[in-house]
Amino acid sequence: MKIIVLAGGYSPEREVSLTSGSLIANALMENGHRVLLLDVYEGMQTLPADPDTLFRTEGRYTHSVSETVPNLDALRARCGNGDALIGKNVLTLCRHADRVFLALHGAMGENGQLQATLDSFGIRYTGSGYIGSLLAMDKDLAKRLLRDAGVNTPEWVLCDPRNASEDDILRAVGLPCVVKPCSCGSSVGVSMVDTREALVEALRTAAAWDSAVLVEQRIVGRELTVGILDGVTLPPVEIIPDEGFYDYKNKYQGCTREVCPAEIPDEITQVASEMTKRGFAALRLAGYARFDYLLDGDGQLWCLEANTLPGMTPTSLLPQAAAAAGMSYNALCEKIISLG
Ligand SMILES: Nc1ncnc2c1ncn2[C@@H]1O[C@H](COP(=O)(O)OP(=O)(O)O)[C@@H](O)[C@H]1O
Ligand SMILES: [Mg+2]
Repeated sequence: MKIIVLAGGYSPEREVSLTSGSLIANALMENGHRVLLLDVYEGMQTLPADPDTLFRTEGRYTHSVSETVPNLDALRARCGNGDALIGKNVLTLCRHADRVFLALHGAMGENGQLQATLDSFGIRYTGSGYIGSLLAMDKDLAKRLLRDAGVNTPEWVLCDPRNASEDDILRAVGLPCVVKPCSCGSSVGVSMVDTREALVEALRTAAAWDSAVLVEQRIVGRELTVGILDGVTLPPVEIIPDEGFYDYKNKYQGCTREVCPAEIPDEITQVASEMTKRGFAALRLAGYARFDYLLDGDGQLWCLEANTLPGMTPTSLLPQAAAAAGMSYNALCEKIISLG
């Protein structure tokens, strides 16, 4: 197959995406496909007379993540795309491919905007469609649907951080709580809050990323994540940050220990699997996804969110879980492409 791996994008998570994208592209080449890794935001200024020559069958793509959140203003100035989120020639090239592997994270890649655009152009792509992507990306909508489907999720309120009443928030959710942008990922803008003063500060932090902010009851316990692929759940992975919570740095700088399969009772694995399948259907997802959970001291599972485009480096959580189930990274990439 002729495959475009779409990565990067105008999102704080672009670096992570470019790393996943490179490795996915390499795996697909090894699987015998012809592959082009393309930054959806940067696009390609000029096309060769025969775009087929852009698709590689050998060699390796590389990219590594820096320690800080990328500077999007600098990127925007450099690319000169203005307000356009899809770069020059991206759609032309995608129409030229048999399939598009979405290796994006955050913003347009995860909120369904890109999926809707690809649908409109008749382009086939991996993972969930635009409705599922949107529903999962909006943490408030997702939690409403999860709760209605009987998937346990922590109490929360949605607020406009510019004129939120701390009294109302504290009455509804209480302390300690967690403040997070409604539609971000990678723990960007997420704060753990123990005091009223910290709440004010946390709302300001989250407001920099989103005009809608969730304040959620804090759950103390172990962190688990469960992948689902083609209707089958993978073994849960436990995430143990060296210190603090699973924030941006812990996620991408390896300051975290991951135990896969998680050492938890079989009954909990069973409940997590059941919840994930139910959540997957409730959010109208397709292909594959990864659900984040907390397990409290009473053995109760709490679903935090669903990720429709989970990290896809070989050491990312979903590929690790697939490996524990006996599926290699290359086989996983192949499976995802075949489901697209
Ligand atoms: N209600 C909560 N209680 C305790 N910790 C939380 C809660 N919500 C989020 N966290 C911590 O913040 C991290 C990021 O939150 P999450 O809702 O998964 O958003 P993201 O989309 O940024 O991954 C989680 O992995 C967890 O470590
Ligand atoms: Mg998460």
